[in-house]
Amino acid sequence: MADLSVNVCGVDFKNPIIPASGTFGYGREYEEMYPLSKLGGISTKGTTLHKRTGNIAPRIAETHSGMLNSVGLQNPGIDYFINTELPNLMTKGTVIISNFAGASIEECAEAAAKLDETDVHMLELNISCPNVKQGGAAFGTDCNIAAQVTAAVRKATKKPLIVKLSPNVTSITDIAKSVEAAGADAVSLINTLLGMRININNRRPILHNNVGGMSGPAVFPIAVRMVWQVANAVNIPVIGMGGVSSGRDAIEMMMAGASAVQVGAAIFTDPYAPIKIIDEMNEWLDSKGISSVREIIGTVQPW
Ligand code: SIN
Repeated sequence: MADLSVNVCGVDFKNPIIPASGTFGYGREYEEMYPLSKLGGISTKGTTLHKRTGNIAPRIAETHSGMLNSVGLQNPGIDYFINTELPNLMTKGTVIISNFAGASIEECAEAAAKLDETDVHMLELNISCPNVKQGGAAFGTDCNIAAQVTAAVRKATKKPLIVKLSPNVTSITDIAKSVEAAGADAVSLINTLLGMRININNRRPILHNNVGGMSGPAVFPIAVRMVWQVANAVNIPVIGMGGVSSGRDAIEMMMAGASAVQVGAAIFTDPYAPIKIIDEMNEWLDSKGISSVREIIGTVQPW
């Protein structure tokens, strides 16, 4: 069996596979299916300083080879997360990444300061949610604001800080470089691509929010391209995500430059997807005689 362990920002992961934020809740439904210790890590559903009920339904729509969501950061608030969900997660023998967001720079910094007081292993600042009016993608699509929010959060925490980037920009490398300069320890990408579906019978958008974020296998090549570009533009680790649904996809993402890989929409079609992906990675590495997954990171050889 190949060695699947990776290290991201000084944190050891037993393997590089991490359920992506928003696709795994706080782990409770899944721990009935398999030990969460099999996972490299878990990125928790994004929390905000105050509880949010999210956007009005319908907020999920199917697309060819993917889905749209406009959930709107529904969550129970950071105090509930810290007091009720995090203690359970911290007993699971896997790396816990607390994803969080805010409607203002101050809210993001305050949430980070609260998380800094906990035992959580890493923080993932979401500046890329396309489904909220304040914060979210408004932070992640402008280099100056992305840098300001990253710097404010950096001041509030000593924990390893990942910043989750939006693909809905002209140059994701410029945003990545801005957050790196402002103190991010790693970047994760891609969040969802802004999309829209219309019910042609009533001429209404299917999502009540009109638009939403697209994820799933259809976005995979876009994610690989952006991970490759960012990995070549920054000196901090890149965590890749976007449409990964097999071990081969995860290997491809790592060859593009990802040090670890998040799995999102695939979990909605198969809750066991992260476990199958870990097994498939092992099989592929063994079949090629590669002893450590770390050997493949960033090894694509462009023509
Ligand atoms: C949501 O809750 O709207 C999804 C989170 C995100 O896209 O960042």
